[in-house]
Amino acid sequence: MESYKNKGIKDIIADFPQVADILEEYGIGCGPCTVGICLLKDILDIHKMAPEKEQELMSRIEATIYPERAIKTDYSAETAQTDREPHVFSAPMQRLVNEHVVIKRWLALIPAVVERIDLTTDEGVGIIEDGIDLIKSYADRLHHAKEEDILFSYFDDSEKIFQVIYEDHRIARNHVKEMLAAIEKKDVAALSQHLTDYGQLLAQHIRKEDEILFPWLDKKLTGKQVVELAQKFDSEDREIGVEPEKYLSYLSNLENRLRK
Ligand SMILES: [Fe+2]
Ligand SMILES: [Fe+2]
Repeated sequence: MESYKNKGIKDIIADFPQVADILEEYGIGCGPCTVGICLLKDILDIHKMAPEKEQELMSRIEATIYPERAIKTDYSAETAQTDREPHVFSAPMQRLVNEHVVIKRWLALIPAVVERIDLTTDEGVGIIEDGIDLIKSYADRLHHAKEEDILFSYFDDSEKIFQVIYEDHRIARNHVKEMLAAIEKKDVAALSQHLTDYGQLLAQHIRKEDEILFPWLDKKLTGKQVVELAQKFDSEDREIGVEPEKYLSYLSNLENRLRK
């Protein structure tokens, strides 16, 4: 069973679909999750549960993988339900999650913006350029920089999940480069494609962070590190000098406009 702990949960579920149902009973939604990067041992680490509960879960998974083994399975569906509360983020982690809320407002507008792209007028170009400014200044400089330069420095970022996150940031930056090139060439098709791809990438990316990475990292941070992190976030934001109000008002205006 030890070897299965180092196997990807998606691979285990592909071979033994019942494992997804068992995890679901413990409030762990690996079946419908599209992220698919966790190993079985990561699941145990991320969704910390009481030792006896974890033992019970592992016994049930083991019984599914090795039905020929006589394994004690004295559980019931009622006992499977864990009493885990949703994770309450520390203040600095909540700050990153709040920034995601702002970024998601922009992502939600992208399909309507794409439908109405007009690169023949200053106004049409302005809407796109302001959206790209939000991506570059708010999403990347203010937000991704806090993740990469500060938060991740507290952990061993050679682990696979960090590499996935870095790669998402890199692809997002490349989409921005391509968007700017498309505006220059007045290439509406390319601009639409890169905006759409960016929107889909970031929506998935934020989900990975909100639901998997951040709760997991937050549990690993000590109280002292949480205080330090909040201070470092404050000074980083001051140094960068990005004004969130500017982007909040851009979003409100665009939301009102697209609602008409
Ligand atoms: Fe990120
Ligand atoms: Fe993020």
